[in-house]
Amino acid sequence: MKMTDSDFAFWMGDVQARMEAALARLLPAASLVPARLHEAMRYAVLEGGKRVRPMLCFAAGELTGAAQGRLEIAAAAVELVHAYSLVHDDLPCMDDDVLRRGKRTVHVEYDEATALLVGDALHSLAFQLLAEHRLAEDAALQLEMVRTLAQAAGSRGMAGGQQIDLAATGKQLSVAELEFMHIHKTGSLIGAAVKLGALCGGECPRELERFAHRIGLAFQVVDDVLDAEASTATLGKTAGKDSKQGKPTYVSAMSLADARALAEELRGEAQAALQGLGARARRLGELADFIVLRKF
Ligand code: IPE
Ligand code: IPE
Ligand code: MG
Ligand code: MG
Ligand code: MG
Repeated sequence: MKMTDSDFAFWMGDVQARMEAALARLLPAASLVPARLHEAMRYAVLEGGKRVRPMLCFAAGELTGAAQGRLEIAAAAVELVHAYSLVHDDLPCMDDDVLRRGKRTVHVEYDEATALLVGDALHSLAFQLLAEHRLAEDAALQLEMVRTLAQAAGSRGMAGGQQIDLAATGKQLSVAELEFMHIHKTGSLIGAAVKLGALCGGECPRELERFAHRIGLAFQVVDDVLDAEASTATLGKTAGKDSKQGKPTYVSAMSLADARALAEELRGEAQAALQGLGARARRLGELADFIVLRKF
């Protein structure tokens, strides 16, 4: 068991380092005009973040035998959309946060207009990458990857979930409504990470959809729990802000213990979804454990 733990930690460190290098290479140089925008884009993306979505992408690609070079591009595209969503999520008109990934948020370090444009440009760059690099033999499959990320980021995905989050602030939501919000604002991009990774290997087994759905929800349940339970120092973002801002979360809808138990239940369901897939799904299983048991 110890062996497996350290083996996973090694794999995780490897994907994180690989992604850092890939993102640094794929983002425009800070010296390129307009330098302020490019510097801020690099500030938002590099040196920070757990890179959970890239890890899911790589783990799903392992299952379908995808080439590492393709996975780097697909994972970078999803991570760029995620980073953009964080920059906008932190804006004063949304969650109004000053700390992200242990650093001042982009609008604090730069300014609000630049933060807005950073999000816009990261979003565009993600799709540029998917269009510029060959990720599948079959053009139709590559188009399916573009469509998958577009849908996951859009009004029926992340952006839609964020709209529901804003409308729900100060209100109480039922557990069913919370689940709907979380599956959209967070689950969608997690699902896209898994699907794009698998498609880099030519196919996405149906079991992965169920896996991604459960682990996507679990991810945000745990985010809610950590907001209430962990410190600003360990999270690298302001702790305790959900209750302060009147955000409906799994912690406001049920007890902390029940929210933890739900995350645990979802972890079990995610693991069960992988059962028919054999040994090549091992990393995905380990990631499900990491997502639910993480402390930051
Ligand atoms: C935070 O995501 C925002 C949510 C969708 C809950 P992460 O916890 O993956 O943030 P980073 O990328 O590690 O900073
Ligand atoms: C954000 O959810 C989900 C996104 C789409 C960015 P939160 O607002 O809970 O994320 P944190 O806690 O600020 O990272
Ligand atoms: Mg938010
Ligand atoms: Mg937030
Ligand atoms: Mg949160």
